[in-house]
Amino acid sequence: MHHNIALIPFFLAVANGQLVGTEQAETHPTMTWSECTGPDSCTTVNGEVVIDSNWRWVHVDGGYTNCYTDNTWNETVCTDNAACAQNCALEGADYEATYGASTNGDSLTLTFVTEGEYAANVGSRLYLMENEDTYQMFNLLNREFTFDVDLSKLPCGLNGALYFVQMEADGGLAANDGNKAGAKYGTGYCDAQCPRDLKFINGEANVDGWVPSDNDANAGVGGRGACCAEMDVWEANSQATAYTPHSCDSLGLVVCEGESCGGTYSEERYAGVCDPDGCDFNSWRQGDQTFYGPGLTVDTNSPFTVVTQFLTDTGTDDGTLSEIRRFYVQNGVTIPNSESLIEGVPGNSVHKDFCDAQKDVFGDVYTWEQHGGFASMSAAMAEGMVLVMSIWDDHYANMLWLDSDYPVDSDPSLPGISRGPCETTSGVPADVEAESPGATVTFSNIKFGPIDSTFSPPA
Ligand SMILES: *[C@@H]1O[C@H](CO)[C@@H](O)[C@H](O)[C@H]1NC(C)=O
Repeated sequence: MHHNIALIPFFLAVANGQLVGTEQAETHPTMTWSECTGPDSCTTVNGEVVIDSNWRWVHVDGGYTNCYTDNTWNETVCTDNAACAQNCALEGADYEATYGASTNGDSLTLTFVTEGEYAANVGSRLYLMENEDTYQMFNLLNREFTFDVDLSKLPCGLNGALYFVQMEADGGLAANDGNKAGAKYGTGYCDAQCPRDLKFINGEANVDGWVPSDNDANAGVGGRGACCAEMDVWEANSQATAYTPHSCDSLGLVVCEGESCGGTYSEERYAGVCDPDGCDFNSWRQGDQTFYGPGLTVDTNSPFTVVTQFLTDTGTDDGTLSEIRRFYVQNGVTIPNSESLIEGVPGNSVHKDFCDAQKDVFGDVYTWEQHGGFASMSAAMAEGMVLVMSIWDDHYANMLWLDSDYPVDSDPSLPGISRGPCETTSGVPADVEAESPGATVTFSNIKFGPIDSTFSPPA
């Protein structure tokens, strides 16, 4: 690594790393949720949420100079990854005014575009915390996770996501000398796309090899990525929804280098240690176009409850994940997930037979199985995973993989190509940011407990 010798004496006095700014106190919005032990037996947990470090103002420690502006680094202070982390601080967040994120009791509302004092903020990603310094860890095995969602104001091209990733509970604070901010400042993100748009990974910046995005004024792709297992419980807008586990070869956050990261941010999608495609259940993609959407069986014009069960092969806590089952509840009615109507792909849940058949019939790459499938996902869950809630638009594929025909040059009558009713021209970030800045998603009434403890299961 290249070090700028001339700068060393000047910065020696602050040789810490990924520091904490002092311009704005970091005060996490509070958010309650329910821990259940059995039917109608839940207790309220007083949690809080934190916004990811990537959204924060990163400036020279002790001053106002930006370390990062729009989508480029200040090369005077960020000569390399280590020096940058030593010179730059993450600032506290004004959640509502800057980021359009607010809580009220048991609910969290995320607004898509927020015109702040200095800049427009696009999207956000927040984590549920156990306390000010520690993420809430969830072991989903043999458990059920339930929440209410309102995405009536979330159109084509947007994604109101609720998911789990295998981050460190302290955001990597203890393990990385260069990280002085930790979970309190939303550090330590990783997912199964091995994201390379992260500004800091393991207490170092990601400035080496950074290429500013040509269609995202706020983002770029760095030389490194952060990989870990991901359980997408909910990726949705008012038109389409999918739930998708993504496995990885190893546990915890694994740093990857350049194109060998694979995933969304690399040329070679399948080059990495994680499974970028997963095994997805999207009702529309599985052939039922009347189940989910405005005015349909699950009516996205109004709020509803989403129940997800993580069943093990033994039916006990120490078993291995074998099936992920979905129910909806709306207006007091429990609605089982739609059945797959694709010939040769039966079932209404994610389990091995479903994944085997779906990948075969759709002709998709079976990266879920290649990276360990249910066994590795299960191991990641046993380690504990962090709950993520986000709103985002898609600078890589316009969210067409969720809500339209994708790939767009494939025949949409072939099984697996059509995923939702949105136009193939929809979801362009510049368009959705201009046309739907006020789009929102609200997550509320989170409940977690043993199977059948958080809702009224069908008789
Ligand atoms: C980069 O940082 C240096 C040192 O703090 C500062 O003098 C300069 O103005 C910064 N450049 C930009 C573009 O912010």
